[in-house]
Amino acid sequence: MTRGAHGRAAALRGVVALDGPSGTGKSTVARRLAIALHARYLDTGAMYRAVTLAVLRAGVDVADSTAVADLARGSVPAIGTDPAGPTVRLGGVDVADEIRGAAVTGAVSAIARVPEVRSVLIGEQRRIVAAVVAVDGGIVVEGRDIGTVVAPDADLKVYLTASAAVRARRRSRQDAAAGRTVTVAVTRADVDRRDALDTRTTPLRPADDAIELDSSDLNVDGVIAALLSLVDERGLRADEAVRR
Ligand code: C5P
Repeated sequence: MTRGAHGRAAALRGVVALDGPSGTGKSTVARRLAIALHARYLDTGAMYRAVTLAVLRAGVDVADSTAVADLARGSVPAIGTDPAGPTVRLGGVDVADEIRGAAVTGAVSAIARVPEVRSVLIGEQRRIVAAVVAVDGGIVVEGRDIGTVVAPDADLKVYLTASAAVRARRRSRQDAAAGRTVTVAVTRADVDRRDALDTRTTPLRPADDAIELDSSDLNVDGVIAALLSLVDERGLRADEAVRR
């Protein structure tokens, strides 16, 4: 780890946008990168998932975009930005586990395509990022549209990819670790379906100035090392003592 002039760990200053489809290892990488950089962390997918959970709990028809929009305005999730302990709350109750279940995963793309849902959540995401940057801090933001829409002025934009087969394998390993048993074939179909939907509804594409990083043949440490090099190339680490 890079050390500053006073022997303290050098912390990220500014915004790192990490976009890409599901199953690229994005969440693990984003969290670990934020920890390594003493930065905050924002998982925007968790926000779309939490709104989806609110919709399902309320028994609102996922296809009824007016009702979904009304509900979204009143159910903005409270998301924590500590990479060591990410939390997402609905009405004060943590729903971090529940939002990873099959029901939410199956419905989230339909909810995320509702324009009012996007504008409410994007507004909240921008507010969180601005609050961190205002105190000269750093934040790693992961999602689909961070470099293109949420934080187009991000200091570093990375678009993480991996082959569909690798992504399906990683997803099913994650599911198995969480006690959800699904075959790689089923997961592959789900990954493909969600990609197709997300490509149509969210700008699931790299920003013009994003760096594309293919993680198919890299492990998590390899991806983190590549990202830390990019952060340092851009001079985005500042010594804590100087910063404060
Ligand atoms: O990253 P994760 O798989 O948790 O995201 C869940 C879903 O939320 C995505 O499939 C996508 O539909 C939506 N999403 C989005 N914009 C983001 C992040 C996630 O539309 N910035």
